[in-house]
Amino acid sequence: MLFSTGTQIVEENYVYVNEITRVKTMMKLKDIKHLNFEKRWTFTLAIGSIIFIFLFATCFNFGTVSSLYKINSFFPKFGDKPADFGDQRIQTPPPPPRPTVPRFAYLVSGSKGDLNKLWRTVRALYHPWNYYVLHLDLESSVEERKELALRVENDPVFAAVGNVYVVTKANMVTYRGPTMVSNTLHACAILLKKFKDWDWFINLSASDYPLVTQDDLLFTFRDLKRDLNFIEHTSNLGWKKNKRAMPLMIDPGLYQNRKSDIFWVQPRRALPTSFKLFTGSAWMILSRSFVEYCIWGWDNLPRTLLMYYTNFVSSPEGYFQTVICNTPEFKPTVVNHDMHFISWDAPPSQHPHTLNINDTDKMIASGAAFARKFKQDSLVLDRIDRELLRRKNGSFTPGGWCKGDPSCTKVGKPTRVKPGPGARRLSRLIGKLLQPPKFNESQCS
Ligand SMILES: *[C@@H]1O[C@H](CO)[C@@H](O)[C@H](O)[C@H]1NC(C)=O
Ligand SMILES: *[C@@H]1O[C@H](CO)[C@@H](O)[C@H](O)[C@H]1NC(C)=O
Ligand SMILES: *[C@@H]1O[C@H](CO)[C@@H](O)[C@H](O)[C@H]1NC(C)=O
Ligand SMILES: *[C@@H]1O[C@H](CO)[C@@H](O)[C@H](O)[C@H]1NC(C)=O
Repeated sequence: MLFSTGTQIVEENYVYVNEITRVKTMMKLKDIKHLNFEKRWTFTLAIGSIIFIFLFATCFNFGTVSSLYKINSFFPKFGDKPADFGDQRIQTPPPPPRPTVPRFAYLVSGSKGDLNKLWRTVRALYHPWNYYVLHLDLESSVEERKELALRVENDPVFAAVGNVYVVTKANMVTYRGPTMVSNTLHACAILLKKFKDWDWFINLSASDYPLVTQDDLLFTFRDLKRDLNFIEHTSNLGWKKNKRAMPLMIDPGLYQNRKSDIFWVQPRRALPTSFKLFTGSAWMILSRSFVEYCIWGWDNLPRTLLMYYTNFVSSPEGYFQTVICNTPEFKPTVVNHDMHFISWDAPPSQHPHTLNINDTDKMIASGAAFARKFKQDSLVLDRIDRELLRRKNGSFTPGGWCKGDPSCTKVGKPTRVKPGPGARRLSRLIGKLLQPPKFNESQCS
């Protein structure tokens, strides 16, 4: 009994081993055949490529002189960013004109319970030509963050275009603390590293909402110089001198993994003398060159100011303002507006007034690109969807890129931009801001 079972096992093993050897041998034979096949093909391919390269070089030489001239004469008018020929195939010389549609890189961030609010904002903001970094901070639950990552993964348009990125290593963000600025800088660094060709960075939260379509925004910004920065600012600190610039505070979010509020320490500090303080709105549109300046830090100012602002209450309302206004090469690029409609109660309290349906007319009249802040699923958002964005029921905001049925379920040509009335409102506002005397008189004063 014992013996017979033993043999059986041995026999089975033997068969098994044999089977493996056979499979291995077969694989080898196949590989060899495959290799021969490949060798023959490589040879033919090599000859073919040489002929092709020769032909290609000849015909390209033809067009070069005239097309280069055209591109160069085009450059000085629009910004100074090098051309992006990424989506152009080599086989089709002469090259079509340089795509002049700019690209925006967004950070949209939220906290605990903001998932659905953030999702709605992202869908209203989405355009395949832009880039998006989404961040739910460490206070939100793991499930919430996972759900966000899943939604992004499962959206067929996001998956096809690949321009939406969820920050998986969430940051601790304390309201009014420097961790807000470090979170913004983190997103800037991710965007610089992952996506090479964007022109402006826009920082939004889940309580923000667009008042114009992305086509309106792309169309309006297409004709602007790419180095403009929209940062609302003033050197008139007023009450903030005493309440913000002199007290010292510490943000535990920098070193604790449990959330707690900022706290104050003694003594107070004097106002700085090696740079001038500026303050303004925490919402801004930053040029790529300015973001690179802040992140790469070849000049020490952005870094020392970051350290200075570590102990400053509400640093998002001062850091970028102070950096840009103390840097002579960037000062001429500041536009004194944040492109947001924000309604403060009079007298201003800690938080802005939550917008409702009665604010719609004021919002539209402002010409701003974004507004804040909104409650989740507020009626006014439905109205913005219907009247300003023409966005239906959870779908994307329609634009020139939309294809498929229902609309916007497939991506057509992303650079096909169809501006609407929002572009008119926005360009009227920007035109006013860029008018010569007012434009540079309001810079860093
Ligand atoms: C960026 O966005 C966040 C939204 O979460 C905001 O709180 C912050 O103040 C913004 N601004 C800056 C300069 O970081
Ligand atoms: C809007 O205004 C109307 C009339 O003034 C008022 O009755 C209503 O309560 C307001 N709605 C909100 C949401 O404040
Ligand atoms: C919008 O969505 C709701 C529920 O998801 C659905 O009942 C309604 O028919 C949809 N409307 C349109 C126009 O698709
Ligand atoms: C504004 O710009 C004009 C011309 O570019 C220049 O002459 C003038 O000095 C500038 N004014 C300020 C306040 O920078």
